[in-house]
Amino acid sequence: MEKNKIYNVPASFVSNAFIDEKKYQALYKHSIDNSDEFWAEQAKEFITWFSPWKSVQSGSFDKLDMRWFLEGKLNACYNCVDRHLEKRKNQIAIIWQGDNPDESLTLTYAALHEKICRFANVLKNLGVKKGDRVCIYLPMIPEIAIAMLAVARIGAIHSVVFSAFSSDSLKARILDADCKLLITADHGVRGGKNNPLKDHADKALEKCPNVKHVIVVKRTGAPITWNKERDVWYHEALQNANMECPAEKLDSDDPLFILYTSGSTGSPKGILHTTGGYLVYAAITHKYVFNYSEGDIYWCTADIGWITGHSYLIYGPLLNGATTLMFEGVPQYPNFSRFWEIIDKYNVNIFYTAPTAIRALHKEGDQWVKQTSRKSLKLLGTVGEPINPDAWEWYHRVVGDDRCPIVDTWWQTETGGILISPLPYATPLKPGSVGWPFFGISPEVVDEQGQAVEDGKTGKLIIKKPWPGLMKTIYGDQERFKETYFKEVPGCYLTGDGADRDTDGYFWITGRNDDIIKVSGHRIGSGELEAVLNSHPAVAESAAIGIPDDIRGNIIYAFVTTKSGIQPTELLKKELIQKVRDEIGPHAIVGNIQWAKDLPKTRSGKIMRRLLRKIASDELTDLGDTSTLADPGVVGDLISERKKIK
Ligand code: PRX
Repeated sequence: MEKNKIYNVPASFVSNAFIDEKKYQALYKHSIDNSDEFWAEQAKEFITWFSPWKSVQSGSFDKLDMRWFLEGKLNACYNCVDRHLEKRKNQIAIIWQGDNPDESLTLTYAALHEKICRFANVLKNLGVKKGDRVCIYLPMIPEIAIAMLAVARIGAIHSVVFSAFSSDSLKARILDADCKLLITADHGVRGGKNNPLKDHADKALEKCPNVKHVIVVKRTGAPITWNKERDVWYHEALQNANMECPAEKLDSDDPLFILYTSGSTGSPKGILHTTGGYLVYAAITHKYVFNYSEGDIYWCTADIGWITGHSYLIYGPLLNGATTLMFEGVPQYPNFSRFWEIIDKYNVNIFYTAPTAIRALHKEGDQWVKQTSRKSLKLLGTVGEPINPDAWEWYHRVVGDDRCPIVDTWWQTETGGILISPLPYATPLKPGSVGWPFFGISPEVVDEQGQAVEDGKTGKLIIKKPWPGLMKTIYGDQERFKETYFKEVPGCYLTGDGADRDTDGYFWITGRNDDIIKVSGHRIGSGELEAVLNSHPAVAESAAIGIPDDIRGNIIYAFVTTKSGIQPTELLKKELIQKVRDEIGPHAIVGNIQWAKDLPKTRSGKIMRRLLRKIASDELTDLGDTSTLADPGVVGDLISERKKIK
């Protein structure tokens, strides 16, 4: 990747920013040298506390007992909505743009407040109490925001499940968190197609006896099956509910939500975020990274089923009293101008999306962009996977008319908010680099022994000190929390990503070091994929890896060994690809399956994935050290099989 290309941010942007380079440098230093003081100042500025904290932070990465704003009392919903009512009750909080261009609505802060309070009472009436887990399986409609905030209002814990997930994935997540109530819709609508959510939910709930109630939002009105003992229409329940519902006073350390994400092995992990630290971090990063200013119209295209939707569509912007746009549809429907038309329709100022969307739209040509004005845009953002300089350049030149800086933000479900990002008022931009650490973040690039490497050398990206947005634990599995993130480099948070830092202090992410695959920015664990493939009666074992793809970033490539006596066929390939799609969700697209007589395993039985990646990408000149393979003969077989399928 070309590392010397620099884009200077236009002077007009820098002079309109609310902090400049000097202030950034001073604040960063302060945030590291006087961490308690810095976070106390931010917690006061960004959050309204019912009662103040007694100390800013305690605990360490050694003991894994980190806590923030101890004994402080607050409520997430109160901070996102109630406290804004005095000043902005008639300001639009949420602009909702439907999949169909003619369908849209807006909710003011006052309207949002009323709906949340009513819905919070519905939940209470159905027996939901503080600490209970509530699963939300909704498409991108305003009710998803209302549901999350209503759950938070009464001190329950939301677990949002991406609405494209299959019934099996939904079931696993409901069971793991032991949710007692599910909120869903009759159908979801995306790209002109219906997604039968209630059917998926019904199927999942066959195996979830502890879910006693299902609240159903009517999105399309299409027929659904109804369970009279269990199901409640959202609109009917809301109509009858009282609108007085005081926000529960929660402890800073009380859980706010669980969000499942893929690990490199095993089943998805329930990432648990607590209230005080997460909110402070979501609010401050939203303001500083996006240079958010009063009155800006802000649009994050991420689905709320992912962390980006949580932190930068709901919590961050609402905490800052912003107008946040929620889009139900997809960038290519009804045509490739959709994003840009929405930007013009609402005069969007800040636009945050994923590299995969940029690449897909770039491929369709400039005319789709150029037929729109986009003159309202001030800043562009990207997240979820590395952005190649080509896509960056197009985003900057064509979408942003050479005028809008790009913030390439690096972070994870676990980190709660953005950890490394260019701050355009402080630094020139380098396409492909994620820039500098955010306030309070101390990243380092280390080698196998955990020692810092020289600038310019690639290594593992770790974070040395706690910050308020970091997850509390993996729900119900503190041991896995410790093993996954803190074992390899003791005393530090292991991100799982590779990176290097150049001599100007800019970070460059090289991708995952583990077995997590990023497909169109969606995070999928090879272990999850293999569990699905291996459960097919014809499969003996399998290994799934990611290989680079121009549009999706990566695609899944699976090596499959069939059981003895079973003939591998094209039909079986199709069946396996469909099985993964059915059991995980349509985003889990297996691009290719290669039959393997055997998988390359080390003498200790570990699959040598590095070798599989090379074979699948046809990088055969240097296969690296294969001397630890139990049977070196498998390599030749795999290569000749690869040649057959090209
Ligand atoms: O590999 C990194 C990649 O996405 C991973 C985190 O995925 P997830 O938990 O789904 O969260 C995505 C949205 C925050 C990281 O470990 N990643 C995220 N942002 C970037 C990135 N890789 C390169 N550049 C980024 N800007």
